[in-house]
Amino acid sequence: MDKVIKKNLIDSYQVNGGFIVYDCNMLKKIFNVYGIDPKTSIDRRIFDLEGITHFFQQGVTALFKKLEINKYDYVLSLGEGSGAPSRLLAKIVGCRIVGVDINPDQIIKAEECAILHGVQDKVEYYEQNVEELNLTKKDFTKAFCNETTCHWQEKESAFKRINRHLKKGAKIGFNEWLKGEKGTLNEAYKMINEFIPLYKKDIWFQEDLKTYEMLLGKTGFRVLETEDCTDKIDIKMRTRLKGIQLEGDPYVDVMGSKAKEIGINYYKVMLKTHYDFLRYGVIIAEKETDIPKKP
Ligand SMILES: C[S@@+](CC[C@H](N)C(=O)[O-])C[C@H]1O[C@@H](n2cnc3c(N)ncnc32)[C@H](O)[C@@H]1O
Repeated sequence: MDKVIKKNLIDSYQVNGGFIVYDCNMLKKIFNVYGIDPKTSIDRRIFDLEGITHFFQQGVTALFKKLEINKYDYVLSLGEGSGAPSRLLAKIVGCRIVGVDINPDQIIKAEECAILHGVQDKVEYYEQNVEELNLTKKDFTKAFCNETTCHWQEKESAFKRINRHLKKGAKIGFNEWLKGEKGTLNEAYKMINEFIPLYKKDIWFQEDLKTYEMLLGKTGFRVLETEDCTDKIDIKMRTRLKGIQLEGDPYVDVMGSKAKEIGINYYKVMLKTHYDFLRYGVIIAEKETDIPKKP
């Protein structure tokens, strides 16, 4: 990955960015206001605040169900962010999970939040670029990517490396931002001024479902299912925007009105990109053949 793109990517997911990536201390205060104990609860407001995802807890749980993850599975989460998907999975299923992210700040948040949720024995995190993925463990039985491959420049190389970390027959699932009718969000950058402060430049490598099918086929996977769910995402985001506008979220009391403003702005701008620059897809595949390392 190009150095500038890597820096832009890391700078895009920060506490003080165009949207807030909450750290452990902020979350602790918010859950206090909610009256929720993250160690015992899977109240969807926890995930919907912690996760950096447009499909919210419902969409991520649906992906876990499609992958039929059980407590004996050893799960690899690529582009895990600040760890919300693995914490949820550890609580609802009880399996072991390894999360990988390129952003060292995200890894720190993930490690701190694992303790907040009491799941530190179930999760492990590594700072790595998935395009160069190289973990000691190579016996994962399931894998998932929640809204991250849209940033992967070298998808074929990443998929090959993921293949080498999975057991044969292992299922892999994607909830993913796809290319829109007019291109990727790099094009939105040139056409929608309000999009510019949300993310840094040139970090989008979205593809369409056909390209995912082709790339997965080339890297030892058999695609079992694909779905375009852009309409579902659009409705979910509109509902979320209404929720924040109506001040239904007590997190405003903790984070202040600035946080509310940032939240409203984020959803409003992202909704403008839907269909033209952002579609949404779900893909389920399984590892069919080993991809050997080149001699
Ligand atoms: C939209 S966030 C999603 C985070 C998480 N999956 C979730 O649902 O909360 C995308 C994440 O992918 C990570 N990422 C992007 N490209 C990556 C790469 N090449 N290797 C590892 N992580 C990457 C980013 O650092 C970011 O944390």
